Amino acid sequence: MDISASVVALMGSKGCVVEHFYDRLFSQHPELQRHFENLDMRVQASMLTVALASVEAYYSQRFPATEHYLKVLGHRHFHEGVQLDDYPKFQTALVETLEEFFGDEWQPDLARQWSEALELAIKTMQEGYQQTYTL
Ligand code: HEM
Repeated sequence: MDISASVVALMGSKGCVVEHFYDRLFSQHPELQRHFENLDMRVQASMLTVALASVEAYYSQRFPATEHYLKVLGHRHFHEGVQLDDYPKFQTALVETLEEFFGDEWQPDLARQWSEALELAIKTMQEGYQQTYTL
């Protein structure tokens, strides 16, 4: 399975795949929980799942629209006070969540593609820290 096929599996899955992602993130990094007070975490998980399709689309196709989306998203995170060194924590917990979801299908090549895709997305989001991006 490659990353594009994995997104089809993620989007087609009945449950919300990353629903338990935040539990994992907060147990590894309790200091991050304060950002999410008063938010509906099921809604957050749903938005994150859809964002993963854009992460993959930007990685695989370099669509300008996905680049712009990621910069806008980054700028929103800048305003939320998310620090640059929070991103590797987020990436690690997310990759572990995907690994758990895909089970035996999580092969080294798929792991590499997701790592590269998330690194590219995070770099692009962080470009949104320097400039105001609005839709
Ligand atoms: C690959 C990295 C990340 C992706 C793809 C991502 C994706 C998203 C998406 C799609 C949303 C919903 C945006 C909206 O409301 O329209 C969101 C919101 C949020 N993200 Fe992230 N995120 C990432 C990294 C992080 C990190 C490192 C943190 C640090 C704790 C974080 C904290 C938040 C918070 C607090 C919100 C809610 C903002 C609000 O609605 O007030 N995110 N994120």
